[in-house]
Amino acid sequence: MIEKDFIPSAYELKITEGKVSYKSPSNIALVKYWGKKENQLPQNPSISFTLDACATTTQVFYNKLPKPSDDFSFELWFEGKTKDDFKPKIKTFLSRIESYLPFLKEYHFKIETSNSFPHSSGIASSASGMSALALCLVAIERQLNPDISDSFFLKKASFLSRLGSGSACRSIEGDIVQWGNHKNTKGSTDLYGIKYPYEVHDNFKNYYDTILLVDKGQKQVSSTVGHNLMHDHPFAVQRFSQAHDNLDKLITIFKNGDLKEFIKIVESEALTLHAMMMTSMPYFILMKPNTLEIINKIWEFREVSKTNVCFTLDAGANVHVLYPENEKDVVFQFIKDELIAYCENQQYICDRIGFGAKKL
Ligand code: PMV
Repeated sequence: MIEKDFIPSAYELKITEGKVSYKSPSNIALVKYWGKKENQLPQNPSISFTLDACATTTQVFYNKLPKPSDDFSFELWFEGKTKDDFKPKIKTFLSRIESYLPFLKEYHFKIETSNSFPHSSGIASSASGMSALALCLVAIERQLNPDISDSFFLKKASFLSRLGSGSACRSIEGDIVQWGNHKNTKGSTDLYGIKYPYEVHDNFKNYYDTILLVDKGQKQVSSTVGHNLMHDHPFAVQRFSQAHDNLDKLITIFKNGDLKEFIKIVESEALTLHAMMMTSMPYFILMKPNTLEIINKIWEFREVSKTNVCFTLDAGANVHVLYPENEKDVVFQFIKDELIAYCENQQYICDRIGFGAKKL
């Protein structure tokens, strides 16, 4: 598919008002997306586990305007209160997707949204938030054109989510989603995320992710600024090619269930992401002392317990602790006994691999 396949022809139905609602999860990248081209197209392919508990629920009420407005007409409610400071971001998103949803200026929208995880937890809500909104808007389009197939619906929701926040395009489906052209993954594309198309060993079913909230503050570097720092980055070419190689390796690992090799890729990807930030100009250190304490504890415990617990990181100080289902009791006990002490106010979120967004 190409971009213009997402531009619809005129809608046949006329609808004056309605309501749609979706719950969409966050996701955690195993091979990281860091660096983008024009139009939120990724510099390298990435792959993620879709999460389950960390999610955004969004309801959109729409009402036909007497005549199309010059600007987008919408109000935004977050957890029961109007939230004007989110409006510029939503407006940018709507203008980026307008050509793909030409009805946007014909309606007034009331967008009501809430997160399952605490606000200001340092957990990026853009993946779940943007995907939930994109799903609602495509669902409205489907009311105007009921011929839209399920498969096109999912592709378009992912395509539009990407224009809100790149990683959001990996939140529509589960349980493993790949985004970005990769020559050895059939159907992969820069335009939207696809469900991982090959065999996955039982070791990777029901994976657990306990998110340790090390620093709940605002992000020091916005992802837009961070991605842009890859433009003149001295290691960019090697990094992008490494992501392709790691995806090749993951095809074999997912098939044969080799957890030791899985850990090597996942931890190396997390540290590489941070290495890119530390070696850009300007440079950043987003890990905190407690991030390193946790990583060292995980390494020690893995050695002693012979379990397969490992970590990954987002563009921040929080640590995602990943482990297979059959080790959940022993690893969770270790987390409670030894890691929670390093979290801000002892806060953490218990999550696990999930199966994508749901219509409510
Ligand atoms: O979706 P964005 O633009 O906020 O970028 C997210 C990038 C990382 O979370 C650091 C990595 C990833 O692939 O999710």
